[in-house]
Amino acid sequence: MISVSYLKSKYSKSETLKKIDESICDFLHVDLMDGKYVAERNFTISDVINDLKNVSKPLDIHLMVINPYEYIDELAKLKPDTITIHLDSTENVIDTIFLIKDYDIKVGIAINPDDDITIIDNYINDIDYVLIMSVYPGRGGQEFIPRVLDKIPYLYDKNVLIGIDGGINDKTIHLLKEYNIDRIISGSFVCMSDNYNEKILELKKIL
Ligand code: DX5
Ligand code: ZN
Repeated sequence: MISVSYLKSKYSKSETLKKIDESICDFLHVDLMDGKYVAERNFTISDVINDLKNVSKPLDIHLMVINPYEYIDELAKLKPDTITIHLDSTENVIDTIFLIKDYDIKVGIAINPDDDITIIDNYINDIDYVLIMSVYPGRGGQEFIPRVLDKIPYLYDKNVLIGIDGGINDKTIHLLKEYNIDRIISGSFVCMSDNYNEKILELKKIL
């Protein structure tokens, strides 16, 4: 499954969202950054609600914010498929996980490139999804970090969906073939191009 991030695009935000929504991708990946958990700040919560309320693709929301708990009630209005949080963004991990679950939304935990995969052990029975970061969170268009792939087999018997996020393009996609990955997030490779479907198809063909 391909999930497209609109963080970095050659088109305006509204054009980009329309192009993704009309494309053959499986999910829209929503990167929300607060300028505290990561250096950059992109959208406010009301931007996100306004921009996405009419999108028909399933939403895969990735929160790169301090205190993600504070965002969940609002984001739940969008009926997203998944909300993913970073463990080091809150002291309230368990409360945040259960608030997301209460809304019947899948819960994801993102693992930063330098994090050991075993940091999910305490939460693994309560979550649906693990998002392996293949770049440092905070910006689109960064280079893929291949060593993060070593974390993936650890998840195979854990009954969670597996995603990978950052630096995926027509070259790096080849590195993913031998792994069982449920969701592949790609941003600039798709959104900086003229033909979104062509780029998405290039990725899908390799898998
Ligand atoms: C990085 C974001 C990624 C990013 C992916 O902080 O979480 O989702 O937008 O974009 P590319 O494919 O350009 O690395
Ligand atoms: Zn992301």
